[in-house]
Amino acid sequence: MKKLKSLLLVGAALLLSATAYAKPNIYILATGGTIAGTGVSSTQTNYHAGGVAIQTLIEAVPAMTEIANITGEQVVNIGSQDMTTDVWLTLANRINELLADPNVDGIVVTHGTDTMEETAYFLNLTVKSNKPVVLTGAMRASTAISADGPLNLYNSVCTAADPASRDKGVLICMNGIILPAHGTVKMNTVDVQTFQAPNSGPLGYLFNSKVYYNDITLKRHTTKSVFDVKGLKELPKVGIVYSYADIDADVMEPYFTGGYKGVVHAGLGNGNYHKNLFPSLLKARENGILVVRSSRVPTGPTTLDNEVDDAAYQFVASYELNPQKARILLMLALTKTDDWQQIQQYFLEY
Ligand code: SIN
Repeated sequence: MKKLKSLLLVGAALLLSATAYAKPNIYILATGGTIAGTGVSSTQTNYHAGGVAIQTLIEAVPAMTEIANITGEQVVNIGSQDMTTDVWLTLANRINELLADPNVDGIVVTHGTDTMEETAYFLNLTVKSNKPVVLTGAMRASTAISADGPLNLYNSVCTAADPASRDKGVLICMNGIILPAHGTVKMNTVDVQTFQAPNSGPLGYLFNSKVYYNDITLKRHTTKSVFDVKGLKELPKVGIVYSYADIDADVMEPYFTGGYKGVVHAGLGNGNYHKNLFPSLLKARENGILVVRSSRVPTGPTTLDNEVDDAAYQFVASYELNPQKARILLMLALTKTDDWQQIQQYFLEY
C-alpha cells in the first residue's frame, strides 16, 4: 500500500512537471510579403515579395522550436499590395477555427508590410478569441544582408506564446516592439523601424526573447467585437476619396454607379472637405451611401462637431482611424446596419 502511494505521488509529480514545461502550440499562417521575398542579390533592394514558402521561413529560425511547437500553414503567397477582402475573410475564418481548438495557444500571421495595418485591424474586429494573434513581416527580403524577417518571426512567436499577450487584441510585432492593431500605421517606406502607433504608442517590447508590456488598448476588439464574418461571402463595397486643393467633384462619379455602400473621405485637417466636393458628399448621403470623414493628416482624431455639422448632413467622424482603417470599420459596420448614428457609435467604440 505504501509502495503504491509513493508510486502515485511520483506519477503525479511527473505529470505536473510535464504540464509546467509543455510548450505552447503556435500556428504560423503565411500570406507572403517581403518576409518571404527573394532578391536579385544580398545587397540590392530589387526583390520579389512572396517567393519563399512557410516551411523555409520556419527552418530559417530553428530557435523558435525552443519556445513553442510550431505548425506552419500557407494561406496565400502574395505581395500585400494585392491583398483582398476575400483573403481577409479566409484568414479570419481559419484563425477562428484554429483558436476554437483548446490545443492551439496562439497564431502568428506573416504578412507584407504594405497593408499589414489593414489586415491586423480587420482581424482585431473579427477574431472571436482572446488568445494571441500577432502579425509580422519584414522590410528587407529574406536574401538580404541583415534581413529583419527572422528576428521579427522569432519575436512574434515569443509574443504569441506568452500568456501576457492574451486579451490585448490583435498585435503587430516588428523590430522589437509590440503595437496595437487599432492605432498602428506604416510610417516609413523603406526603414526597418516603420511601424508606429502615433496616437497611442506601442503596447510593449521584446528583449532577449522576453516580452514586456507597459500598456493596454481600451478600444473594443476580438471577443468584445459585435462583428462576425462567419458565413459572409463578401463585404459591402466601400471606397476612399483623397482630398486635395482644387479637387474636382467628378472624382465622386464612380460612387453613384459602382454599387458603393459607403465612402471614406480622406479629408483636410480635422476631416474638412473642399467646397467643390461638398455637394457630391451630400448627394452620396441622399442616395443612401454612408459618408465617413477621416483625414489625410497622419496624427490626431477627426472629431465630431468641429468645423462640420455632422448631424445636419448625417456624416460620421472617424476619430483616430485613418482612412484605410475607417474603410474597414465602415465595411463591417454596414454588415450590421445602415443607421448612421449607430455607425458613429461604432467609430467611437472601436
Ligand atoms: C508587401 O507588402 O508585400 C511588400 C512590402 C513589404 O512586405 O515590406
